Amino acid sequence: MPKQRLLIKGGKVVNDDQSVEADVYVEDGIVQQVGPNLNLEPPTGLTVLDATDKLVIPGGIDTHTHMQFPFMGSKSKDDFYTGTKVKEEMKSLAENKGVNSFKMFMAYKDVYMLNDEELYAAFSCCRELGAVAQVHAENGDLIAQNSKKLLSMGITGPEGHILSRPEEVEAEATQRAITIANAVNCPLFVVHVMSKSAARVLANARREGKVVYGETIAACLGTDGTNYWNKDWAHAAAHVMGPPLRPDPSTPDFLMNLLANADLSVTATDNCTFDICQKALGKDDFTKIPNGVNGVEDRMSVVWEKGVHSGKMDENRFVAVTSTNAAKIFNLYPKKGRIAVGSDADIVIWDPKATRTISAKTHHQANDFNIFEGMVCHGVCVATVSRGKVVYEGGVFNVTAGEGKYVSRPPFPPYVYKRVRQREKIKANENDPAVLTKAVHAGSNSQLTINF
Ligand code: URP
Ligand code: ZN
Ligand code: ZN
Ligand code: ZN
Repeated sequence: MPKQRLLIKGGKVVNDDQSVEADVYVEDGIVQQVGPNLNLEPPTGLTVLDATDKLVIPGGIDTHTHMQFPFMGSKSKDDFYTGTKVKEEMKSLAENKGVNSFKMFMAYKDVYMLNDEELYAAFSCCRELGAVAQVHAENGDLIAQNSKKLLSMGITGPEGHILSRPEEVEAEATQRAITIANAVNCPLFVVHVMSKSAARVLANARREGKVVYGETIAACLGTDGTNYWNKDWAHAAAHVMGPPLRPDPSTPDFLMNLLANADLSVTATDNCTFDICQKALGKDDFTKIPNGVNGVEDRMSVVWEKGVHSGKMDENRFVAVTSTNAAKIFNLYPKKGRIAVGSDADIVIWDPKATRTISAKTHHQANDFNIFEGMVCHGVCVATVSRGKVVYEGGVFNVTAGEGKYVSRPPFPPYVYKRVRQREKIKANENDPAVLTKAVHAGSNSQLTINF
């Protein structure tokens, strides 16, 4: 007899490729059956969740959060990337610990920032290990110079943060990261794409066939950078993050359109919260305001409201950008990111018609501020199932700290690496000395290029 049995009845099961009216039956955390009108015997010991008029969707996957992240204000002075030592750590993490992605910073000069040579080495290492290189794309040198200039002009408030990081600072770094990654055949995942300019660079690269994915975040889909000029210092500082939210008010719509049309692949949050006291470290100098905003609790609602309720994307694309694509890119699919027989029962029962108003007064995050304050969202989570256990239902949590489980991610995700490997096979053949010699003899030497 299985220990744990759960039936989700009467809902519409939504995956990234189709929606079907079906019940979902779960035993010991794994989906066993998906089909209409499941009748389960014996009924004893069976938990039943009613999903009538609701959607049954794969649990969201947030590709980018920082929990308990020692950052800006901590004393750490070490370089993130210290020659071959880190290279060995990456190898050991990939081979023994189920880590298949590494985030590299091009910003935060003198703390985390890597120069081009270091990026080249790190991307090469990712390629060797079968990992996905993630990059925070902002030109850290330019930010440092701009900040110095602004401070010397007496601009010390949060508006200095956005003035020091215009869109081209993000777009240039995005282009540079793509160029370097492409030079070493390393698949690239650009985290927190925040501006129209950077998104255009990324979309163009995909059209040129580069293996690159873009993540955008709830913050820049749900609010914007006009908040940096708010007269209330704490309000403005609460929005400080890197790359910054953009003052161009058409940015959220633009990014959502790119998500809907697959130029961007996933939504995350980059959740990295600091309370007002922590933000006040930068009271007299915007460069000292700890960077980061909330999002982890509200991402699904914000994406539903701005994406699905607005008519930009359908429920299937919603599942793709909140769950399935992340599972594919980071090699968790179809265990995660899909509701199907054999998948983990990480499931959300979603009411697309209900609304809720986001507020710091009612949220469950530890922080005292919410950047989406007052936003009314369609799309409300009715129940959450984690590995078969109902952990949230109708406002009540049933979880204890430490119940979460680390998920090992094998290297070389096929979704990402199949084309990388095939291209290398073809290139190796083209670079074969015999093939090159033949090409020269055929008189095509003016066309001759070496594929690195
Ligand atoms: O401002 C941000 N984004 N804080 C978190 C660290 C990072 O850069 O992702
Ligand atoms: Zn970042
Ligand atoms: Zn981050
Ligand atoms: Zn609405």
